[in-house]
Amino acid sequence: MNPGIELILGRRSIRRYKKEKVAGRDVQALLESAMAAPSARQKDPWRFVVVGQADVLNTIAEGLPNGKMLAEAPLGLVVCGDLAAANSGVLSYMLQDCTAAIENILIAVHALGLGACWLGVHPREDRMAHLTKVLGLPEGVIPVCVIAVGHPDEEKEPRTRYNPELVHHERW
Ligand SMILES: Cc1cc2nc3c(=O)[nH]c(=O)nc-3n(C[C@H](O)[C@H](O)[C@H](O)COP(=O)(O)O)c2cc1C
Repeated sequence: MNPGIELILGRRSIRRYKKEKVAGRDVQALLESAMAAPSARQKDPWRFVVVGQADVLNTIAEGLPNGKMLAEAPLGLVVCGDLAAANSGVLSYMLQDCTAAIENILIAVHALGLGACWLGVHPREDRMAHLTKVLGLPEGVIPVCVIAVGHPDEEKEPRTRYNPELVHHERW
């Protein structure tokens, strides 16, 4: 199989992590991958908070009902968007740009032999308020998700959920 496609199919949500820290050079590579994503009119409205302190990860996890594993991860990448910086100041553009950055991070994580899981924040008001408070996010900076990252302590098979019924050709 083409190695690029193999990489994409091999990316899975990893929710168990070893204690080992994520190397600084890997964190840098993840951030550079994030900021290589497509962005409407290249506005790059994404903003990132890199969290490595166990007590902060634990506090963030307390406000994420489906993100308790963050407390066991050595690293959390909080992906935020600055609404004022987005194309025409439009929320949808900001979210689309941030989502492209998130997926780039997830693919880069897998390429580096690490594991990650996307933990949903936006549009849940309670989770957004929690992140804003814990991280001291300024007005207009909206938390989109948290990515828990670490050295994987579980293995998952590569797969696609390809379903030909979801594809239409030439017209619906
Ligand atoms: C918007 C969004 C929010 C998600 N939120 C969570 C979450 O809060 N907790 C979690 O464990 N997984 C979360 N996931 C991961 C999905 O559960 C996962 O991607 C899906 O089950 C497919 O599995 P895979 O990533 O291994 O292909 C989220 C994914 C997306 C796109």
